[in-house]
Amino acid sequence: MLRFVSAVLMFLCLGAVAARAASAERGFDFARMFCSRCHAVDKLSPSPLATAPPFRTLHLQRPPKSLNDLLAEGILTGRLSGHPTMPQFQLNQTNVDDLMEYFRTLEQ
Ligand code: HEC
Repeated sequence: MLRFVSAVLMFLCLGAVAARAASAERGFDFARMFCSRCHAVDKLSPSPLATAPPFRTLHLQRPPKSLNDLLAEGILTGRLSGHPTMPQFQLNQTNVDDLMEYFRTLEQ
């Protein structure tokens, strides 16, 4: 019985890991498509637009909750205060979750 329970738990964990990896993958695709014109989206390159922070540095500037809110509300309504050159984006909650998951993969 214990073995069965641990097998089920392991299966659930693997499922969760796979789901998070898929989400990060979608976030990366999204970033490559809509953000990489200005922001560096990998772990090494400089940003094509020098004033746009590389995505790998975002977690140094903001805690995840703040970044999440910014993506969900700020970019949506163009309220990125003090960032006039950042264009407006319409992100739904899935886009935000995927981006957050992808940003996490850049943090080491
Ligand atoms: C046309 C260029 C451009 C594109 C495209 C762009 N950004 Fe930016 N972004 C900027 C610039 C420039 C800044 C730095 C702030 C400023 O001066 O406007 C910035 C800042 C940011 C910040 C930091 C804001 C803060 O206050 O910490 C986040 C987060 C961000 N961008 C996310 C994104 C995401 C997500 C996308 C794609 C959906 C994206 N950006 C696409 C130019 C761009």
